Amino acid sequence: MSSTYSSSDRLSFNVKSSPPTAYTGDVLVVPFYSDKTNLKARIPATLPKDIQAIIADIIDEGVFKAEASQKQLTRIMNNSIKYIALVGLGPDPKKKESGDMEIASAVRLGKAVASLVKDVKASKVGIFLPTIGNGGLTQLLLGIHYDSYNDNRYKKVPEEGHKPLTLSTVTLVGCPEHVSKDCEITHELTEMIASGVHFARDLVGSPPNYKTPVVIADLAKELASTHNIQCKVLGEKECKELGMGGYLGVQQGSKYPPQFVHLTYKPDKPSGSVTKVALIGKGLTFDSGGYNLKAGAGSMIELMKFDMGGCAAVLGCAKAISQLRPKNVEVHFITALCENMISADAMKPGDILVASNGKTIEVLNTDAEGRLTLADALVYAEKLDVDVIVDLATLTGACIVGLGEKLAGLYASDADLLNDLQNSAKRTDEGVWALPLEASYKELIKSNIADLKNIGAKGGGSITAALFLQEFVEKTKWAHIDMAGPVWDTSNSKPTGYGVKLLTEYILRLSTNN
Ligand code: BES
Ligand code: MN
Ligand code: ZN
Repeated sequence: MSSTYSSSDRLSFNVKSSPPTAYTGDVLVVPFYSDKTNLKARIPATLPKDIQAIIADIIDEGVFKAEASQKQLTRIMNNSIKYIALVGLGPDPKKKESGDMEIASAVRLGKAVASLVKDVKASKVGIFLPTIGNGGLTQLLLGIHYDSYNDNRYKKVPEEGHKPLTLSTVTLVGCPEHVSKDCEITHELTEMIASGVHFARDLVGSPPNYKTPVVIADLAKELASTHNIQCKVLGEKECKELGMGGYLGVQQGSKYPPQFVHLTYKPDKPSGSVTKVALIGKGLTFDSGGYNLKAGAGSMIELMKFDMGGCAAVLGCAKAISQLRPKNVEVHFITALCENMISADAMKPGDILVASNGKTIEVLNTDAEGRLTLADALVYAEKLDVDVIVDLATLTGACIVGLGEKLAGLYASDADLLNDLQNSAKRTDEGVWALPLEASYKELIKSNIADLKNIGAKGGGSITAALFLQEFVEKTKWAHIDMAGPVWDTSNSKPTGYGVKLLTEYILRLSTNN
């Protein structure tokens, strides 16, 4: 059944470059920043005169305003191009990394291209790109991959109206010389990252009955052997020996055995100093809430398959990194997989658990389970003697209330780490917003009877959850990303694969800065 875990549609295309006058193909996409006064002045003068005239004509009609993501497709006759597509980028942000398109615009443009390709079943698409750098191009190409994603794994017959992926060639029209020189390399790297994003989306989108801990652990093993990295999976017995009482407490109501997955990427030929990083992802294959059942409207219990979004981000990053094989970084990918269920064996409100660092936790709410599993994963990661630990988790509904779907909450114990992750977020358009590890709130997670309790007060739920995690990191630089909002695209009912691009970018930067 392994095909069930990989959606059938994988986009694969070539990327080349061309001067504006030499482009031929199905569609020529011309992006525009909006300009209230004179959009026509923005028609690229390097395009062939007849194409310029057609674009002027379209603009004169007054429908195309170049608003963000606005698309206008026009069939033209007697030309070596079949369609001209004007795509809006919204207001010109002006502040860009030199020579690069703003990252959010690049992603948006890529998504628009994917949708145009589907609309007219195009195979050869040209994109007019006079200003773009390799960073922008990477995100543009990832945007194309992103909106080409289609999950047909669970349909007997692929969806009616399902549009097959027809794209064969993307031509960068009139792009800067260094980009056209490197576009094949950039494209190749992008495909590796896209495969990680795709993998993560497949994992998050899988129904909980298809992705038990053993299923995901087996996929991790397969990933490791395919891409030549190390893989260790601990079962219940090994976790018990390590004293992982938090993690094991959460899983004890499930009929599926827990699996603690640890993949390790080591550079092939390390030279100079090697930075060691541990990436931890929350891996609840389903979160019912336990005895504090997720009941009632708004509890989102039917979506709690996405509660392994952190795990998916980390494994997706492992897939990307193990193909990219950066130098000078060693990366540990960790996830404590389990299910939070109700049964005679399940943990109860009031239970006290002992985590692997010896700290005792009073479980005052069985639905605050993610932090219990992460506590033991953090202790495990710190024992690996890494320089940095970053965890990602769909940890709190409170974070969605505060930041919505576009932004994850970012907490860091170290200013440089915070800054690095914020930069990686900007470069990948995977939003984060810094939130405080407010020390005075630590009072709120003190228990009368144990060292800690697993819930705080009414307010600041994402912060108290982060402070709880901090109790399990002693000396290592650590950051926590609460990705409860961005894991799922509710307007399209789709997993986003959030975190793969951000983490991969972060690791690649570490490697080049070394
Ligand atoms: N997995 C949830 C967090 C969540 C809730 C993510 C809704 C996405 C949407 C987590 O395990 C949880 O249930 N957290 C509780 C914590 C509370 C009991 C302190 C929450 O946020 O309600
Ligand atoms: Mn929960
Ligand atoms: Zn949860």
